[in-house]
Amino acid sequence: MAANLELSDIQGLVARGYGRLRAARLLLLVLGEPAPSRGWLASVAAQVTTADVDPRDTAIHLAFAPEGLRNLGLPEAVLAGFSNEFREGMTTPHRQRVLGDFDANAPERWRWGGPTTPAVHAVLMLYGASAAELEALAAVQVQALEAAGLKVLATLDATDIGDVEPFGFRDGISQPLLEGLGKEGPAFNVVQPGEFVLGYKNEYGLLTDRPLVPAATDAGRILPRDAAGSDARDLGRNGTYLVVRQLEQDVAGFWRCLDGITRAPDGTSRPTERTKLAAKMVGRWPGGAPLATSPDRDDPAQAKSNDFRYHAQDADGLGCPIGAHVRRTNPRDSLDPNPGSDGSIALNRRHRILRRGRAYGPYLPAEQALAGADGVERGLHFICLAANIARQFEFIQHTWANNPKFAALYDDVDPIMGARGPGGATFSMPATPVRKRVTGLPSFVTVRGGGYFFLPGIRALRYLSSL
Ligand code: HEM
Repeated sequence: MAANLELSDIQGLVARGYGRLRAARLLLLVLGEPAPSRGWLASVAAQVTTADVDPRDTAIHLAFAPEGLRNLGLPEAVLAGFSNEFREGMTTPHRQRVLGDFDANAPERWRWGGPTTPAVHAVLMLYGASAAELEALAAVQVQALEAAGLKVLATLDATDIGDVEPFGFRDGISQPLLEGLGKEGPAFNVVQPGEFVLGYKNEYGLLTDRPLVPAATDAGRILPRDAAGSDARDLGRNGTYLVVRQLEQDVAGFWRCLDGITRAPDGTSRPTERTKLAAKMVGRWPGGAPLATSPDRDDPAQAKSNDFRYHAQDADGLGCPIGAHVRRTNPRDSLDPNPGSDGSIALNRRHRILRRGRAYGPYLPAEQALAGADGVERGLHFICLAANIARQFEFIQHTWANNPKFAALYDDVDPIMGARGPGGATFSMPATPVRKRVTGLPSFVTVRGGGYFFLPGIRALRYLSSL
């Protein structure tokens, strides 16, 4: 049954990734005095892009860290209703283990969001159809927030490098579809809205934990009632959680490593083999075609293909290796105990994320990367939405990507972004007559910052501004 999503109360980032708005910038903010901050918030709340419109020129989104909510005056008793992950943050010792953030990725080394850098209170996300539109929007927003005593702690700029991520692979193809949003797609890929929007039923048929406030604190009756029927008002409804991780990508290191592995015995490079190894690691070809359905070549006709399953079409991983990035971050129908069954798909539906990431830094094509690093930083501002950070984002990263024993594997982590020790990662590729395996794959991705945020509904933004 389609849930009636209150689109005009939901931030539009939940409904769309704004492929048309090519320019994007994240402003990491510190709030000042509570009263002017609330005044600023009231004004931004009226400008935030809602899910019932498809903007053509600009979009604005706003999310808060716990420190920001505290600063606005939200009582601790209400903050206690938010999830542990959000309240504790991304850098506790427990989360460090869950996320695999050690050595070069340790939070102590982060540029933002870590224990040695100032606390981020909020993130303002700005989008524009062109760089000029973004600049104009940012100028107005920065002026307004500075006038209210807020400060920009850091600016994370995205770069429009086309529909690819910095290693050169088409990105933004596979997303779960929310029931009730009206987008068409295969049934296995449709999830309950409560997986991504608080206040609605999730894949367990339950309301995800959410922050409630006593009705008496909402004299203006801004917030909706608790859908579970209590007297409380629902601060969470139509909101969701936002995960941001700045992931630097060593593009030169990536291509040089794969070039070395795939060279002919006489030492000459074999570009076709090199690209194929990279595609095996990702699980899609650079053009986007899935290896599960197009094992031998990139097929432009399948560039955006997403209606496929692993157990049904490539059970042994002869096309798409079991340990490939896309196969382990969304195993589709291949989860135990009954791969290929409806139960397997139902299990998988509980661990989906909506990805909204953006690339940063200039694009460095593989051929140029092979000539050597250019000394310029590039990577992904990995951004995703989930109603339950632990069960969705953290589970994917911990139990699937970073798990050396994922599926029937023995010692392989995600070859693209899985955390690995100094000895590097092993990557196995099922093949006949014998499986192929590469060892000692170094890390190509380094965490430079990150945080968990709450992306409130529009009424919740107004309520927060009225505290
Ligand atoms: C710099 C790091 C990363 C790179 C280069 C990268 C690259 C890619 C690429 C090329 C795709 C295929 C395009 C698509 O299906 O839309 C993809 C898909 C995906 N990635 Fe990543 N990714 C990175 C980090 C992450 C992280 C940190 C997570 C989550 C913990 C993640 C989760 C996913 C998921 C869920 C999919 C979709 C799989 C599917 O539904 O078939 N990725 N990624």
